[in-house]
Amino acid sequence: MNLILFGPPGAGKGTQAHLIKQRHELALIATGDILREEIKKKSSLGLEVEQVMAEGRFPSDEIILKIFEECLENVKEQGVILDGLPRTLNQAQKIDQIFKRVDRTVDIVIQISVDEDELIKRLSSRIVCKQCGTPYMEDSSFHPKGVCYECSGRDFIRRPDDEPEAIKTRLKVYNDQTKPLVEYYLNQGLLKVVDGMKPVAEVNAQIEALLGATQVLTRKSGCLYSAQDI
Ligand code: AP5
Repeated sequence: MNLILFGPPGAGKGTQAHLIKQRHELALIATGDILREEIKKKSSLGLEVEQVMAEGRFPSDEIILKIFEECLENVKEQGVILDGLPRTLNQAQKIDQIFKRVDRTVDIVIQISVDEDELIKRLSSRIVCKQCGTPYMEDSSFHPKGVCYECSGRDFIRRPDDEPEAIKTRLKVYNDQTKPLVEYYLNQGLLKVVDGMKPVAEVNAQIEALLGATQVLTRKSGCLYSAQDI
């Protein structure tokens, strides 16, 4: 099973991607996480994209597609979750071509739909683990009580692109460049929408129901199952 998690900044793509990954043992390709890791390492790629990302704009498609191809080469028989990619029509078309070359197809595109006011609220109150980037909400039921459940880190920071100006830019760029992909995937009959305004567990249940309804085989513990058998 190869699936795309699609939606605006703050919709909950990363949160859901980690839940799906664990349950279905899929490989996760999250370009935002990979780029933030490069920035943390101060690699030449990280230095190149740091300012652009902090402002909420996109690095070039060439950079993104190179990362994607490199990640895909390291995935063996597993299915993949694409979190935060594609974001442009060019990326979507190139991903289709690359998948075809390696005998994969996009099986389902899940759009997480969230109102803009809620997106701004989530992004404005998000803190992330400094060590591994896992997101939490300040002053909410998601508060980690001082310890990250993924890596036991104790330091939490705000992402530079969660500052008000950058949030504004990210939402605009999403509407201008990424939202048009809805039509691209609708035309292929691949797009399914979940209500991302619901709590995390309910959003996840909606996604699992959709995956269960797709007759796509997924690999778990060396055996092939259809998604609803898991
Ligand atoms: P990326 O890291 O992918 O950021 P994004 O798409 O802007 O999405 P976010 O990570 O902000 O939000 P999310 O939807 O993952 O939500 P999350 O689960 O964290 O990309 C960052 C940047 O990298 C881009 O702006 C661009 O510069 C560059 N980039 C990456 N990929 C690119 C590409 N393909 N092309 C070009 N540039 C690219 O949740 C948000 C918050 O809400 C969290 O605090 C969470 O705890 C909370 N939350 C989650 N679900 C719920 C819920 N159901 N109810 C209440 N709160 C919730």
